[in-house]
Amino acid sequence: MRSILTMALFTGMLALGGMPAGAQPAAGAGPAPAAQPAAFAGGGAETCLKCHSTDAKVTPILQTPHAVKGDAHTPFGQDGCESCHGPSAAHVSSRQNSPSVLFKGPNKSPVAERNAQCLTCHENGLRMNWQGSQHATNDIACNDCHTIHKEKDPVLVKDTQPEKCFTCHAEQRADSFKFSHHPIREGKVVCSDCHNPHGSPGPKLLKEFTVNEVCYTCHMEKRGPLLFEHEPVRESCLNCHTPHGSSQARLLVERPPYLCQECHQESGHQITPFSGSTLPGQIAENVRMLGRGCVNCHSQIHGSNSPNGAWFNR
Ligand code: HEC
Ligand code: HEC
Ligand code: HEC
Ligand code: HEC
Ligand code: HEC
Ligand code: HEC
Ligand code: HEC
Ligand code: HEC
Ligand code: HEC
Ligand code: HEC
Repeated sequence: MRSILTMALFTGMLALGGMPAGAQPAAGAGPAPAAQPAAFAGGGAETCLKCHSTDAKVTPILQTPHAVKGDAHTPFGQDGCESCHGPSAAHVSSRQNSPSVLFKGPNKSPVAERNAQCLTCHENGLRMNWQGSQHATNDIACNDCHTIHKEKDPVLVKDTQPEKCFTCHAEQRADSFKFSHHPIREGKVVCSDCHNPHGSPGPKLLKEFTVNEVCYTCHMEKRGPLLFEHEPVRESCLNCHTPHGSSQARLLVERPPYLCQECHQESGHQITPFSGSTLPGQIAENVRMLGRGCVNCHSQIHGSNSPNGAWFNR
């Protein structure tokens, strides 16, 4: 007898503990109901729009691809708002209960729960490598980048995407202000031209397997094939360039001649560039060593197609 009583008390407590936040058992309404999985309100977006149709935080979604009711792949073609916010019957019957998934505000759901909602429909295509990617393992949520209740998601727009990324990547923001930079600030190039923020089989979330493959997508002429190849160019553009911004011209990691002397310093005109005395032809104090330095003469530094281009002079 005694043990049955304890059990009854215990299950009662469990049921209470399992109730949605803010819910109160009605006074004198008998034993509290047992905890159950949250229920769907059903009825699609209409159910929610009865109250939220003039809510400016909500309505812009009606202009987005998510709200295309005729398409069975979209949330509005499935469970409506509940496709993302989860089962919300309790919220519909009383404002004191929240929907089961909240994406914003002080009570927002854990990142994993939020992302799971999106991934039920989007775990393919660009997100093939999401699991284990740098953003996934650092607990970044889909909606840290994406805004759902806006007519046009800013991270999908060239002009506004970089600002979104800069909120967390301050170093790249600083690079974008440097003397030489990819025209990101000018709206001509975006981060997602080179990166797939959802994950990548290559390094640094790059869209391609190697750095050079990324660069070739826009700088096709550097791909070759060339009659005379400059080894470090084939190996990696980053031997001489930095991708985001540099205080040297042409995104160089170092100013020529120093850039070249990091690798070419055995002898001759490669080590004493400013005297000029060891230049081919013994030209004294050659002014061509100034400014662009070595590339005044070695102008085809990325490789040459000239039969006489072995030294990249033509
Ligand atoms: C009976 C009216 C009513 C219905 C129906 C309703 N809501 Fe709400 N909802 C509210 C009110 C009131 C608020 C508080 C508004 C505010 O603070 O701006 C709210 C707030 C929310 C919030 C903000 C999170 C929170 O708990 O504060 C979300 C998300 C939400 N509703 C989603 C939904 C979804 C999804 C549905 C449909 C399944 C729905 N609502 C149906 C009245 C309703
Ligand atoms: C019920 C399935 C479903 C769920 C859940 C869902 N989406 Fe979508 N989403 C779609 C469909 C379908 C499209 C339209 C795809 C198309 O037109 O190619 C879409 C489009 C998008 C787009 C492109 C929008 C545009 O303007 O082109 C983004 C970004 C997106 N979803 C992100 C998300 C995020 C983030 C979540 C979670 C908060 C989410 N989705 C949840 C089905 C879903
Ligand atoms: C770090 C920022 C970031 C995060 C985190 C992120 N995205 Fe994206 N997403 C983007 C950018 C940038 C684009 C545009 C990509 C492009 O144009 O190549 C995009 C495009 C999309 C698109 C539309 C293009 C397509 O694939 O059809 C969908 C859908 C999408 N993301 C879903 C998601 C989902 C789901 C998650 C979470 C698992 C997520 N994203 C996480 C930045 C992000
Ligand atoms: C594709 C997934 C998705 C769908 C569908 C969706 N929401 Fe949302 N909702 C979000 C995300 C993500 C946020 C966070 C803010 C943002 O991205 O705009 C949000 C934010 C909200 C907020 C503000 C919450 C707060 O704490 O300020 C309310 C209210 C809301 N949604 C209600 C609704 C209603 C009502 C519907 C249906 C008409 C709906 N949502 C459909 C994903 C979705
Ligand atoms: C909410 C914060 C946040 C936002 C927004 C964000 N990131 Fe990240 N990102 C991180 C964190 C945290 C890491 C992992 C730690 C690190 O390497 O800095 C990361 C890693 C990366 C990496 C890989 C770095 C490496 O060393 O492998 C790249 C590339 C990147 N982010 C690009 C982007 C792009 C592009 C956007 C915008 C579309 C973006 N991020 C938006 C937080 C963010
Ligand atoms: C022109 C191509 C390109 C563009 C555009 C670009 N990146 Fe990168 N990014 C790269 C390459 C290449 C690397 C690898 C650098 C390395 O390995 O040293 C990289 C590395 C990174 C890293 C890792 C940090 C590091 O130095 O290793 C982060 C974070 C990053 N990029 C963020 C961004 C953000 C944010 C944007 C947009 C503002 C952006 N990138 C635009 C090519 C690009
Ligand atoms: C999405 C296209 C795109 C990709 C990918 C790209 N670039 Fe560029 N790059 C540009 C544009 C656009 C400019 C500016 C050209 C102009 O102003 O005439 C530029 C300029 C440059 C410049 C000259 C900068 C200056 O200050 O004059 C260098 C060097 C460069 N890119 C190297 C690279 C390297 C290295 C990579 C690979 C990591 C790369 N680019 C990937 C589009 C791209
Ligand atoms: C050995 C060093 C080195 C390597 C490696 C290198 N570059 Fe360059 N690059 C330079 C120098 C030096 C300049 C400046 C030339 C000048 O001032 O005329 C330059 C200029 C550029 C420019 C702007 C002028 C032009 O030629 O269009 C682009 C774009 C460029 N490089 C892209 C690349 C790409 C893409 C790769 C990888 C395939 C690469 N570079 C690898 C040294 C290098
Ligand atoms: C990361 C190292 C590296 C950098 C930086 C570099 N080179 Fe080279 N360079 C090489 C290698 C390796 C070879 C092939 C050497 C060989 O075959 O003996 C080469 C070959 C050459 C050749 C052809 C002559 C020969 O011996 O084959 C010339 C000319 C040359 N480099 C000039 C330059 C100039 C000018 C710069 C600066 C803009 C530069 N290099 C920057 C590594 C580099
Ligand atoms: C005034 C034009 C000129 C300048 C400036 C110049 N070079 Fe040369 N360089 C040449 C010529 C011409 C050759 C062809 C070989 C010869 O005739 O000796 C050559 C050959 C080379 C070679 C291959 C042969 C060898 O000596 O190993 C390398 C490597 C080289 N230069 C690197 C450099 C570097 C590094 C710089 C800058 C510090 C530089 N050059 C500046 C004209 C120049």
